[in-house]
Amino acid sequence: MVADVAHLSSAHIASETPREHDLLSLARTCLRNLYGERADFAAIVTEIESRVRMAQAERPNDLKALDSARLNTPKWFARPGRPGYSCYIDRFSDTLTGCIDTIPYLNSLGVGLFHPLPLLKPREGDSDGGFAVADYHEVDPRLGTFDDLVALADSLRANDISLVLDVVCNHTAREHAWAKAWLAGDPAYADFYIKVETDAEMQEWNRHLSDVFPDTAPGSFSWDDDAKGFVWTTFYPFQWDLNYANPKVFLAMLDVLLDLANSGVEGFRLDSAAYLWKIKGTICRNLPQAHDILKAFRSYLSVAAPGVFLLAEAIEGLDEVLGYFGTDESQSECDLAYDNTPMTALWGALAEGKADAMSEALRLTQQKPPHGTWLNYVRCHDDIIWQALKGWVDQDRLWRWSNLYAGEGDSFADGLAFQAPAGQAPSTCGMAASLCGVGTDDFGLDRLKLVYGITYALDGVPMIYMGDELAMRNDTLFRDDPQKAQELRWLHRPQMEWTLAEARHRSDTDAGEMFTYLLKLNHIVANIANWSSSAPAKSRSVGDDRILCIDRALPEGTFCCLANMSDMPLFLPASLHGHDLITQAAVQTLPPYGLVWMMRP
Ligand code: GLC
Repeated sequence: MVADVAHLSSAHIASETPREHDLLSLARTCLRNLYGERADFAAIVTEIESRVRMAQAERPNDLKALDSARLNTPKWFARPGRPGYSCYIDRFSDTLTGCIDTIPYLNSLGVGLFHPLPLLKPREGDSDGGFAVADYHEVDPRLGTFDDLVALADSLRANDISLVLDVVCNHTAREHAWAKAWLAGDPAYADFYIKVETDAEMQEWNRHLSDVFPDTAPGSFSWDDDAKGFVWTTFYPFQWDLNYANPKVFLAMLDVLLDLANSGVEGFRLDSAAYLWKIKGTICRNLPQAHDILKAFRSYLSVAAPGVFLLAEAIEGLDEVLGYFGTDESQSECDLAYDNTPMTALWGALAEGKADAMSEALRLTQQKPPHGTWLNYVRCHDDIIWQALKGWVDQDRLWRWSNLYAGEGDSFADGLAFQAPAGQAPSTCGMAASLCGVGTDDFGLDRLKLVYGITYALDGVPMIYMGDELAMRNDTLFRDDPQKAQELRWLHRPQMEWTLAEARHRSDTDAGEMFTYLLKLNHIVANIANWSSSAPAKSRSVGDDRILCIDRALPEGTFCCLANMSDMPLFLPASLHGHDLITQAAVQTLPPYGLVWMMRP
């Protein structure tokens, strides 16, 4: 029987505004979809709403002022010429306090969103780069204290930069207090995790699941002696999936979000968002219930901390990724989502020297609902997952791309093949510069500028991955660390090279050339009205399949990005001759891997 919570409306919450009323109704609908069959449903909603009201009441005044301003500027995070920047704190600045000292550097790059990878207290030993959290209310002691985190958030904000944090919401470390209490049989934590007792039952689930790390962590369950069963572990055996079928898990994670939001975090990257709900006989990804959870998170945050954005980390096929925006504004879910389809297709296009895969990716991504915003990127701390394109790019092609970036044959790229389920093209690891061939042939830096020039041309927010702005290459030192040696993603998680950063304004180094190039792109887009959020990037054929042509119909004219994906110089048809905004030169040809930006009336 579905419990009735109608009595919880305005009578229950005296000062509810019409906006809050709509948000709370949406959240209740989502919760009803998830937990409506439970006899204690009304009590659950009451408990959750009082937690939200408490957070709202406790929200510091400066953050409330930010909320008010942002309610009038819904896409506040998409500011032309203000890219995001993502890094591991220990590799970038050693500590959180040290990170405050890097703010002038971030400012010099125009950074508007700062996204350090997970920094909450991880388990000891291998923690999958911090993605196995042992305590969401504490910071990794090697990086500092929670007060240091708040100080960093404040300092960034004082410099007009927003702090974006990872919330690993699908799983905790096996060492988290919730897991310990669950193992100890504490009734308050019953059903916090998922355990199957027999091999047969595990096989039944497994038939429909695919492995994320087939080589280093095969299967989706791990036997645990203390649990006396197979615990659900989508990722590594020490990362235990939370059981969102238990509303207490929902509340516990909401509590984490509210707490961090009130500590000054301005955006959340919701890690592994696709995996939040499990139903036997399904692939247990992107299920409608996962969307209900996210929508409810969004709605409650919109009540207590409306100036905070949500970024979906769902590296899936495009149709699935689109779902994370919610169908329309009134059903809003995540504000941003990783635009992994064009990112992946762009690497494919570069591998082939042909634009068609990228053109098709852009055609598909136009389905994005207008209220959502893409987070555009070239590289991140993870591998490039070719399988995300499997619906429309055939496996042979994906294999060719994967092999090329693994450096096979006469390849310009210096990357490594990561893991993929049997028979599927392996994902790719490597820094963008290395994958582009910086240090391998004469065109490496041109390719790197090309992929960033294209990515910056798209609608949305570009995110720079630490080191790309200085054309930093792979870091092979991880091979010497037994805890990392088998995890090839460490290839592209280098230590920041501050000596390169200090020389960033010199034009005679790759680092200086790349840094200056990004600044130029920032400067151009900062001076174009409605750049980030309006006018989807549309590709158009120009009669030469080596040229990628992207148009955006902006208020002040049609912006056009022309990119030569090949290593041959190409003549442009007369209709495309024009003035390049980047070099300020008249353009009739494109050099190998050349890119121009134009504005036509
Ligand atoms: C996300 C992270 C990845 C991590 C995984 C498990 O995909 O980006 O680095 O391994 O989640 O937390």
